[in-house]
Amino acid sequence: MNRTLAIIKPDATGAGKAGKILAHLEAAGFTLRAARMMHLSEAAARSFYEVHKERPFYGSLVEFMTSGPCIPLVLEAEGAVPRLRETIGATDPAEAGEGTVRRLFAESKERNAIHASDSDENASREISYFFSGTDLLG
Ligand code: CMP
Repeated sequence: MNRTLAIIKPDATGAGKAGKILAHLEAAGFTLRAARMMHLSEAAARSFYEVHKERPFYGSLVEFMTSGPCIPLVLEAEGAVPRLRETIGATDPAEAGEGTVRRLFAESKERNAIHASDSDENASREISYFFSGTDLLG
């Protein structure tokens, strides 16, 4: 079994779509191992997305991610990282496949409802960014 990090982003959380997204993820075969609801500070959003800091959308992304509460989740499944990327679809909902989370629930390329780790190494780093060892027992 493998674990990955998802974040239900402020667009989806604010629009009352979190429950439907979580149900979709569970129906897709993921087991929920940890969850929290939080409002990211600017420093936390900047640090989490530091890899994108040279991109033109970085400032806007940080503003969006700090605009309201979000819901980080630890999800478990066989091959969790690629499986979750497949389940959520392409970054831009207009390019995401039928039935994917972003096709169903996202508003735009930036306000795209959900984040998912892109490698096992980043999944470990991102899980420990939001959760401590005691959150992940059992
Ligand atoms: P995520 O998978 O969380 O990783 C980086 C985020 O940046 C991405 O989802 C989008 O929310 C945002 N993003 C990526 N590309 C663009 C873009 N071209 N314009 C605006 N936002 C983007």
